[in-house]
Amino acid sequence: MTGRVLITGANGQLGRALMTLLGTRALGLGRHELDITSSDAVAALPWSSLSAVINCAAYTAVDCAEAEVEQAWAVNATGPALLARACAAHDVPLVHISTDYVFSGLVAEHAEDEPVAPLNVYGASKAAGELAVLAACPNAYVVRTSWVVGDGANFVRTMLGLRSRGITPSVVDDQFGRLTFADDLAAALVELVDRHAEPGIYHFSNSGDVVSWADIANELLPITRVSTAEYYAGRSGIAARPTHSTFDLRKIRAAGISPRDWRVALSEYVDKQREA
Ligand SMILES: NC(=O)c1ccc[n+]([C@@H]2O[C@H](COP(=O)([O-])OP(=O)(O)OC[C@H]3O[C@@H](n4cnc5c(N)ncnc54)[C@H](OP(=O)(O)O)[C@@H]3O)[C@@H](O)[C@H]2O)c1
Repeated sequence: MTGRVLITGANGQLGRALMTLLGTRALGLGRHELDITSSDAVAALPWSSLSAVINCAAYTAVDCAEAEVEQAWAVNATGPALLARACAAHDVPLVHISTDYVFSGLVAEHAEDEPVAPLNVYGASKAAGELAVLAACPNAYVVRTSWVVGDGANFVRTMLGLRSRGITPSVVDDQFGRLTFADDLAAALVELVDRHAEPGIYHFSNSGDVVSWADIANELLPITRVSTAEYYAGRSGIAARPTHSTFDLRKIRAAGISPRDWRVALSEYVDKQREA
C-alpha cells in the first residue's frame, strides 16, 4: 500500500499502538492537530497522499457522557460521519473503531449481526457513529472492541497501581468479557486493510476464557468481589453497563486474523510495566 495511513486520536491508547506499529507509514494527528468534529479541518487533510484512515478519536468517558451528551455525540457520531463522507469522496478506506457498549449485553456472546441496543449515552453515540460510517462510506470497516489495555489509563494499570500501594480494591464480579490489548488490536486493523478484507463490521478482542473484571483483577492482586450495584451504590450519574461484553470471534478469524489469548498478552503487558 502506498501513501500514509492517517491515525486520528493518535495520542489515545489505540492511536499510540498504531503509531508504534506503523512508524513512518503513519500520519498521526492528536486532537489539537485534527479535531474530527470540524468539517473544515477534515476537508483540509492531505487526502491525495492518504492510503487509509484509522479513526481512533473518540469520546470515551462513559459516565461523563451521561451529562455531556452533545460532546459525546459530536465526537462519536458527527466526527465519524465527516470522516466517512470525505473518505468516500476521496476513495480512501476507513477503519472506524466501535464498542461492545452498542449492545445491551443480555446475550452471552455478541455476533456482528446482533441488533444494537445501547444502554447509555456513550453506547448510543457510538452506535450512531457506526451507522453514519456504514451509510456514507462503502469501503469502511467498523471494528468493535472491548476492555482495551494499552499505553494510557486502563483497568490493568489501575490495578497495578493499587497493588503497589497495598490496597485491596472492590471489583465488580458480574460483568463478563475478555481484555483487548491495544497492540494486538492495532495489528488486526492494519491486517484488515492490507489484506483488502471484505468491508463491514468485525468484532475483535483477545481470545481465551470469558471472565469478570474481578477475575482479571485477581490475577494481579487480592480483591473483594462485589456486584455492579454494590460498587456504585450511593453514586449518581453512573451509566448502565452491559453484563456481557464477549465477542464471537469467528468472523475476524475467517478474515485470517487469530487473536491471541488474553492471559498471554496480560502476562507480557505486566512484565513490560515492571520494566518501565
Ligand atoms: N478503552 C476501552 O476500553 C474501549 C472499549 C471499547 C471500545 N473502545 C473504542 O476504541 C477506540 C479507541 O479507544 P482508546 O482506548 O484508544 O481511547 P482513548 O485513549 O480515550 O483515546 C481517544 C482519543 O481521542 C481523542 N479525541 C477526543 N475528542 C477528539 C476530537 N474531537 N478529535 C480528535 N481526537 C479526539 C482523545 O484526545 P483527548 O484525550 O485530548 O481528549 C484521545 O486521545 C475508541 O473508538 C473507543 O470508543 C475503547
